[in-house]
Parts: sequence; structure tokens; C-alpha cells
Amino acid sequence: MDAVVTGGAGFIGSHVADALLERGGRVAVIDNLVGGRRDRVPAGAEFHELDIRDHDAMQAVFDDVQPAAVFHLAAQADVRASVENPGFDADVNVRGTIAVLECARSTGARVVFSSTGGALYGEAETIPSPEAVEPAPMSPYGTSKHGAELYLGLFNRLYGTRHVVLRYSNVYGPRQDPHGEAGVVAIFFGKLTSGATPVIFGDGRQTRDYVYVSDVVAANMAALAYEGPHRAFNIGTQTETDVIDLLAESQRVAGTDVTPEHRPARLGELDRSCLDIALARRELGWQPAMPLGEGLAETLRALHP
Ligand SMILES: NC(=O)c1ccc[n+]([C@@H]2O[C@H](COP(=O)([O-])OP(=O)(O)OC[C@H]3O[C@@H](n4cnc5c(N)ncnc54)[C@H](O)[C@@H]3O)[C@@H](O)[C@H]2O)c1
Repeated sequence: MDAVVTGGAGFIGSHVADALLERGGRVAVIDNLVGGRRDRVPAGAEFHELDIRDHDAMQAVFDDVQPAAVFHLAAQADVRASVENPGFDADVNVRGTIAVLECARSTGARVVFSSTGGALYGEAETIPSPEAVEPAPMSPYGTSKHGAELYLGLFNRLYGTRHVVLRYSNVYGPRQDPHGEAGVVAIFFGKLTSGATPVIFGDGRQTRDYVYVSDVVAANMAALAYEGPHRAFNIGTQTETDVIDLLAESQRVAGTDVTPEHRPARLGELDRSCLDIALARRELGWQPAMPLGEGLAETLRALHP
């Protein structure tokens, strides 16, 4: 199957590109390298250094590749940057997504869209949060991702396309940079392996749902086979881990015992975030396979082979 991966020079997108190449077919990566790296694009994929907001340039790639599927991961994915510059965030995440949807329509390609669970539901009353929780984002990033989701739904209603929305929890694994929405694992390992002191903000009892990148890739592949009505699917582990336990597990894996520095809680940070994944289990036949301890060990091995 021939496919386009937007954001394929980034953390998750480069793993998606790897998986597509393994399945066979042509893989075209579109990325403007604002956060991604050229050397993350797998050797077997073709690379187009483009901004997703440049509709005409993207259209030329789509005309050439005629993809059957588009994995849309390119995004302004930095929560703090979205607060600093909400207009730019919306431009990339909403207008850029519309350009991707228009190009996909021209070749009849199915779009699998990488959205967010944590940033979308906000401080949810129901934990783990199912997809039925009313979105109440606490950042422009969560809002623009929701906006992009609404356009996918619109295209499905208007044009009968079968695009799929995947809402990830906090993704971790090899190739993650220590920035962006969920870089805490990368940050901890960066500190622990360089002998620096890790920092815990607030009381360290904030929880997140950490899902390993290969499980997220598997969800993207499973979405291709989905035949049902328009839906967004939570992709996580349905397990809450707090920062203190995550650091303890990271230290166990790294063989370190560093006393962390405590700093005041950061404004706008959620107390708890964890996704209910029953719908993806049932409708996509998908479930996470990687236990946290093993995923952390894999991440560390990739950093220091
Ligand atoms: N990492 C997570 O925990 C997480 C959680 C929820 C959702 N997501 C979503 O998954 C996707 C991938 O996230 P990631 O962690 O791999 O981030 P990443 O920053 O590593 O990858 C994003 C890629 O998009 C590219 N990009 C940014 N703006 C672009 C533009 N205008 N045109 C073309 N390319 C552009 C960047 O260069 C980068 O390579 C994003 O859509 C993000 O919102 C990630």
C-alpha cells in the first residue's frame, strides 16, 4: 500500500514510516523539519521537505504518489508554545490539517489522524476517561487538535470518506526529544544518564497514562482496517502512573539512585490523565502490549546502545 506520512521526520511519525515500509509499498514523508530530523526518516522512504500549510506543494506529492492512506502526524505539538502563540498553533494544526484532508480527497486516500486524549479532555471528572467525555481542553493545542478532529468528521459526513481519529495518551519510546507534550521519559533519562538531577514539579503525584510508541504504531495500522462509522479512539494503556513512580521505575532501569529536586507546580498542568481504551479494544481489535518497565528499558537501550 502506498502511503504518505506527514510529520514522518518526528518521533512517532518516523516509527509509523518504518512500519509501513515493513508492510511494503511506497512511503512518502512530508515534514518541514521544524522539530523533526532528516536522519530519522527511514532510508527506504522518500522525503519531501514541505510545510503542510503549503497546499499546492503537497498536492504535487499526492498527485505523484497517489496514496491509499495518509498518516497525519505533522503538528505544532508543544503545549507551552501554543499558549505563547495560539494563532500559529491553530494555523498549523487546523489549516494545515484542512490542506492534508483536501489533498487526501483528491486521491481517495484514507486519513488516520494523530490527536490527543490528555490535552483534549482537560481535568476530566471520569478517570480513566472514555471518548464520551466532553472535550474541555486547557490549552490552545488541545483546542486546535479538537478543531482538526471536527474537520475530519465534517469530511466524513460531506464526502463519505472514512478518516479515523486516534487520541493518544502520553507516548514515549526511542527517538523522542525531551520537549513537546510528553517528553518526561526522555527528560528523565537525559538527566539520569548524564549525572544531572531530575526535577519534580509539585508533589509528584500527578498521573499520566504512558503508552509505548510501538503500540501507537500498531493502533495506526489497526485503524486502516476499521469499517464502522466516524469515531475517535483513545489509544493509551488505561493505567495511571504518577511522576514519583515513573522516576523510580526509570532509576531502576537506569541503575541510578539520584535524589530529585522539587520545584513548585507549574500553572495549567493537569492533576490526572488516563484514557479508557475499551472502544479501541472492541472496534479496532487493538490493545497495548508493552509493559512500562520493558518500554523504559527499550527506550534507554536506544539512547545508549
Ligand atoms: N508525543 C505524544 O505523547 C503525543 C500525544 C498525543 C498526541 N500526539 C500527536 O502525535 C503527533 C506526533 O507527535 P510527536 O510526539 O511525534 O511530535 P514531533 O514533534 O516529534 O513530530 C511532529 C513532526 O511534525 C513536523 N511538523 C511540525 N509542523 C509542521 C508543518 N507545519 N509542516 C510539516 N511538518 C511539520 C515536525 O518537524 C516534526 O517532525 C502530533 O500530531 C502530536 O500532536 C503526540
